Amino acid sequence: MKTIIEPFRIKVVEPIRMTTREEREAALRAAGYNVFLVHADDVLIDLLTDSGTGAMSSEQWAGIMRGDESYAGARSFYRFQDRLREITGFKNILPTHQGRASERILFELVGGPGKVVPNNNHFDTTRANVEHSGAEALDLVIDEGRNPRSRHPFKGNLDPQKLERLFRDVGADRVPLVMVTVTNNSGGGQPVSLENLREIRRICHTYNKPFFLDACRFAENAFFIKKREPGQADRSVAAIVRDMFDLADGATISAKKDGLVNIGGVLLLRDEEMTRRARNLLILTEGFPTYGGLAGRDLEAMAQGFEEVLHEDYLTYRIRSVEYLGEKLLAAGIQIVEPPGGHAVYLDAASFCPHIPPLEFPGQALVCALYRHAGIRAVEIGSVMFGRGDKPAAMELVRLAIPRRVYTQSHIDYVLEAIIELHKIRDQIRGLRIVEQPPALRHFTARFEEL
Ligand code: F0G
Repeated sequence: MKTIIEPFRIKVVEPIRMTTREEREAALRAAGYNVFLVHADDVLIDLLTDSGTGAMSSEQWAGIMRGDESYAGARSFYRFQDRLREITGFKNILPTHQGRASERILFELVGGPGKVVPNNNHFDTTRANVEHSGAEALDLVIDEGRNPRSRHPFKGNLDPQKLERLFRDVGADRVPLVMVTVTNNSGGGQPVSLENLREIRRICHTYNKPFFLDACRFAENAFFIKKREPGQADRSVAAIVRDMFDLADGATISAKKDGLVNIGGVLLLRDEEMTRRARNLLILTEGFPTYGGLAGRDLEAMAQGFEEVLHEDYLTYRIRSVEYLGEKLLAAGIQIVEPPGGHAVYLDAASFCPHIPPLEFPGQALVCALYRHAGIRAVEIGSVMFGRGDKPAAMELVRLAIPRRVYTQSHIDYVLEAIIELHKIRDQIRGLRIVEQPPALRHFTARFEEL
């Protein structure tokens, strides 16, 4: 059989509501042209994020009932810890309420003024946590990773030469650790090869620096390695995942992605002294180390989710359904970040709206147009998210993130049809001006006016 089907059937359904164009126009105006401020009930297909928006399995829901809500030493914690130890090989497993809580603890320990943290591309919360500590966040992805048209199989790779240069230029003392994000979300959901991880590990070893993964989408990354990296095709995804974690001294994970849960996070550490200090910070703001800001039932759902995400029929369907959307857009002459990423397709808003200059936010304008046209919510990853003052971002992208196990192929076909229609009338899309913004992470709350 050629058709790759959803490897599940649907037991519970949740209605979604069609709105009129007038309703959407009013909702956009009320939200200051920022779709983060639109009510979710006014969204038909929500591709804002793949984070915490997935559907849990019947086994995960059964785990919710089994959750042990003991404050300390809950059975659910041990089940969670065992599963994470088995998958990653790490001994020290700290639960947190989500990825950024792990990041906050990590960078409170290693960040600070004068420090420089390299990554392929920092995700926005990672960058914000590095910068909040007073350190500088540097993106050292390979050049192909900044070119939407490059078909490099591992466009998420961190450039080893840029990393060596950084160590020589700023001195190893100022670099507390090296981080690599798998898959590289801000760079188009692109994978990182095992070969690259090994090379970065080697450089870290030379300079005696810890190597950390931002491992939110570790299973999707491992599946790409299996499909694309020479010599990996016959290995199990679980074995590749283990290789990835074996190279690292620590990892932050948002379980809202490949943990297949609606809330949860993990901090993995090898160093015992660092673990001791991290646990103290965990108790300060998250909770006792056997629940870390979560309910016992959440730990139970995570334990199950981290197992299900490694099923290869799931990953085959997952990666293929994103690729399907990407390929059809390309065939319609719409530029995306090529090849399609693991969790999302990224429209190249700069080529979709060539009439809108970067500082009039072509990505944000396209996001608004797509919502107005068809009730689809996407997110800008461009100069609103990463621009500073009059310095635009490196790329103007619009991310269509696909929640896990939520939408069917006909939902995706509707999205395709809407984008193709909008592309035909794209010269009607107007740029935006910021009228209100906070000092950091402005994309969440900024308000805009149409020009
Ligand atoms: N790192 C990466 C690579 C991420 O994609 C995210 C979240 C985080 C860290 C933070 O995790 O949300 O659990 O605190 N990404 C979501 C997204 C929000 O839409 O891409 P969190």
